[in-house]
Amino acid sequence: MNDFKLPGRIGLAPMAGITDYPFRKICLELGAEFAFTEMISAKSILMNLKINRRYLPKPEEKNKVIIQLFGSDPFEIAEAAKIVEELGLWVDLNAGCPVTKVVKRGAGSGLLRDMEHFRKVIRALRGAVKRCSVKTRLGWDKDEFERIYSILVEEGVDVIFVHGRTAKQMYAGRAKWKIYNPGVVPLYISGDVYTWDDVKIAIEQSGATGVIVARGAIGNPWIFVRGKSPTTEERLAVVKRHLDYLYEEYGNYGAVIFRKFVAGYTRNLPYAREIREKVMKVKTVDELKREFEFYFYFLNTENLRTAF
Ligand SMILES: Cc1cc2nc3c(=O)[nH]c(=O)nc-3n(C[C@H](O)[C@H](O)[C@H](O)COP(=O)(O)O)c2cc1C
Repeated sequence: MNDFKLPGRIGLAPMAGITDYPFRKICLELGAEFAFTEMISAKSILMNLKINRRYLPKPEEKNKVIIQLFGSDPFEIAEAAKIVEELGLWVDLNAGCPVTKVVKRGAGSGLLRDMEHFRKVIRALRGAVKRCSVKTRLGWDKDEFERIYSILVEEGVDVIFVHGRTAKQMYAGRAKWKIYNPGVVPLYISGDVYTWDDVKIAIEQSGATGVIVARGAIGNPWIFVRGKSPTTEERLAVVKRHLDYLYEEYGNYGAVIFRKFVAGYTRNLPYAREIREKVMKVKTVDELKREFEFYFYFLNTENLRTAF
């Protein structure tokens, strides 16, 4: 019987290249109740690659961050999970990534092509750790979620995360929120959650325990503030804090990483295109901070036209 407490109803979904320590920290500070690491290869854990130190949770976020592993070999998944499980909330298996490089090796959503093998991987993971979850899609090329759900429950998975699309769909169409959910284990829904209203509707339609937000949080961590839009001052403060965290983690390379977030942080703002173009060339974190201070200052005084 599980005795662990679920971390809440709304979390930051795993995103390779996005949900690093600085961004997780921002989202957790603003109200995300839990977060995921980026997906980490089970094989790379077994090889004890140095790079994994960057991916794994830091000690202070241990109780809020789920470690996501990917791989296709039951033994590798189980052994890697044993090594990392104490470093985070628990270990999650990626059974949803549709990227060719991952699927080709039978990992990610590639696991959904062979349900018997999928079951073996889950069984090995389950047997290796105290608690675990699986993040999956509705199926490989059709909605087979009922079958997937049964396998996960039979094998004793503690929590299920599901992106309401098939692997073949990639990101096309709308994510389904009305999905099979008999309520045997906590289920969290993922896909197309961009606003606080989406959070509420997705939970209502699915009967899920909660949601995890991915693209809707990039440059918009305020989605975790329950629908409250940030003021210009708040927006600038978070941008600067994010940049500080990036600098602490990566030095000035943080300025390059921040480029992935610029579109989000400036979405729907006046002169967004101009500021984006300008900051994409900036190479230091200090310079970036100055550019954003300047931009938000003029945004506030409504004198932006003179600034560009
Ligand atoms: C850039 C990017 C990277 C992602 N990386 C992962 C990953 O490492 N592991 C995973 O399970 N899902 C990954 N996903 C899928 C998301 O967690 C999520 O399920 C999907 O994007 C649908 O949610 P959304 O509409 O809120 O973006 C990624 C998505 C994006 C956009």
